Amino acid sequence: MRDTCQTGVIAEASKDALFLTFNQTHEPGALEVVRTALSSMPALQSRFRERYPEADLHLVVGVGSAYWDRLNPAERPALLRGFPALENGERVAPSTPVDLLFIIRADQYDAVFELGQTVMEMLRDAATLVEEVHGFRYQDMRDLTGFVDGTENPQGDDRLAVALVGDEDAEFAGGSYLHLQRYEHDLSAWQRLSVKQQEDTYGRTKVDNVEYAGTEKSPHAHTKRTSLKHADGTSMEILRHSMPYGDSQSKGLVFVSTCRTPEHFERMLASMVEGDEEGRADQLLEFTRAVTGAAFFLPSSTWLAQLA
Ligand code: HEM
Repeated sequence: MRDTCQTGVIAEASKDALFLTFNQTHEPGALEVVRTALSSMPALQSRFRERYPEADLHLVVGVGSAYWDRLNPAERPALLRGFPALENGERVAPSTPVDLLFIIRADQYDAVFELGQTVMEMLRDAATLVEEVHGFRYQDMRDLTGFVDGTENPQGDDRLAVALVGDEDAEFAGGSYLHLQRYEHDLSAWQRLSVKQQEDTYGRTKVDNVEYAGTEKSPHAHTKRTSLKHADGTSMEILRHSMPYGDSQSKGLVFVSTCRTPEHFERMLASMVEGDEEGRADQLLEFTRAVTGAAFFLPSSTWLAQLA
């Protein structure tokens, strides 16, 4: 599976990334241009990895849930469905579907930038850019709220087991379901909290990043709301690739979840926004707000290469 998946699905965190979303245009031949571009992405990644050998560069291509049937009407990943829009008072998770997602990430921004330019050029009249966000590593992998993000992510081979579709959907084995949300933080409100209040909001300590004991966690704590279990007692897991972004106008987190099923993300998001059976929702959402939300499938590189 490691040989066939897009490498960026399971790779360790990068220093820099571009998150590019597009919609296909209605220009004659646009669909063919997109198909040809997508099929050449695995080779394009290889070229850039040779060009920038130190950069650990990855190019991830995602196909939007609604766009999939236009791109490949013959067959569809078994569990591919739209982003689950949710609303509970001030806590919202909007659905803002797009056709295509490119995540270009590396430890050198010049490599990321140049590959971004190349992708834009390849799609030129066939797709319109919807959003371009530059994600960056902040300190020792912290979110802009100051807490280390990604600690409980699966490690080693568990990353493959969590993120990649297996024999349950043989045609799409090695692919992955991705959910993307851009969150805007209200850092002024967050910084008015004491460190203890911030720590209670996550259920982890800030500086040394230690998890609270289960009995110490509030039912509203972020790590309480997102640590879910299946009926058989096993943990529900996702592999997160989120990154901070920002400028003087707006700042926050590009949240990225990959998984062999969309169900885990959907259940966690509902647990954050709607809360538990007593309606206890995620306190973190008082300080950050999702402004986009979209669901994608990331086919394996071997599947992509035969698309055109
Ligand atoms: C844990 C930040 C949104 C799922 C964490 C942690 C931080 C964090 C700092 C603790 C360390 C770690 O294990 O990574 C954020 C921020 C978010 C956000 C700033 C939005 C602005 C989400 C969303 C989901 C999610 C939307 C899923 C729907 C998880 C999971 C964990 C986690 C599964 C690990 C829980 C555990 O096992 O302890 N998040 N997160 N997060 N987050 Fe988030």
